[in-house]
Amino acid sequence: MFRSRLDQVASQVQAHLDMVMAPLEGPVAPAMRYTCQGGKRLRGFLVLESARLHDVDPAHAIWPAAAIEMIHAYSLVHDDLPCMDDDDLRRGRPTVHVKWDEGTAVLTGDALQTLAFECLARPECHPDPAVRADLVLTMAQAAGAQGMVLGQALDIAAESSQTPLGLDEIITLQDGKTGALIRWAAMAGPLMARDDPTPLRHYAQALGLAFQIADDILDVTGNEDAAGKRLNKDAEAGKATFVSHLGLDGAKARASDLVEEAVSALQPYGPGADNLRDAARFVISRDS
Ligand code: IPE
Ligand code: IPE
Ligand code: MG
Ligand code: MG
Ligand code: MG
Repeated sequence: MFRSRLDQVASQVQAHLDMVMAPLEGPVAPAMRYTCQGGKRLRGFLVLESARLHDVDPAHAIWPAAAIEMIHAYSLVHDDLPCMDDDDLRRGRPTVHVKWDEGTAVLTGDALQTLAFECLARPECHPDPAVRADLVLTMAQAAGAQGMVLGQALDIAAESSQTPLGLDEIITLQDGKTGALIRWAAMAGPLMARDDPTPLRHYAQALGLAFQIADDILDVTGNEDAAGKRLNKDAEAGKATFVSHLGLDGAKARASDLVEEAVSALQPYGPGADNLRDAARFVISRDS
């Protein structure tokens, strides 16, 4: 049931991404379109749901929903590069550097990142220029050197380090790597409405951590066809993860506690937030 709601949102986001990228020409444009296909669209969903809860016009909210999916897609293209995780499969298809080449993959990520900011800055995104500036500012912070990029940097540094990361260090790493974009997505609604983002920040904090624990669990127990990406990468790279620290059962228990935490953070919204509650449960039961 939740999956069909998510798929419905995914097609709305896809249509918007296609519309935004339709005028693009040149050698990188086809790889940008390719990169933006598929995926669960969880971050886009969080933007649209948080916006709905705060009575934001969906015609506005679709812009940050598309923008965060572009940033996420860019992060995946770079994450899959030979200099990072060296993966040949993403969303069930060859990665961009395999289908094209490394140069194209780097530029595709770069171009998606700048296009994401263009989407937030466009007048159609929100009538109030101060809100648009705030979206740009906060997304830059979430994606940048103190956010997603920091998490990715800590992740690759850990691979070459002699001592495996401790649990607290993995939590810090995750907070940037996956937490920052998920948090931004869930807070985009109140940000656009100029409302208090506190309950959604708490929700997203727990959700982001549960999401990464589930990603680590999937890496061990998942099915490559369903996941659409290579698995067993973490153990192969000798990486410390939530699973290596807590064990499989411990990681599952921790993830499910976090889902309860995420669900209770939504209390101020009442039943209106049931879609977000379902999203939290979905995050730890997914197979992709
Ligand atoms: C995968 O993210 C990479 C991580 C941040 C752990 P998703 O699982 O949301 O990937 P897609 O968008 O559905 O492909
Ligand atoms: C990727 O994390 C996170 C970002 C791209 C920011 P992972 O390397 O664990 O993601 P997968 O497992 O390749 O999807
Ligand atoms: Mg990685
Ligand atoms: Mg990876
Ligand atoms: Mg992973």
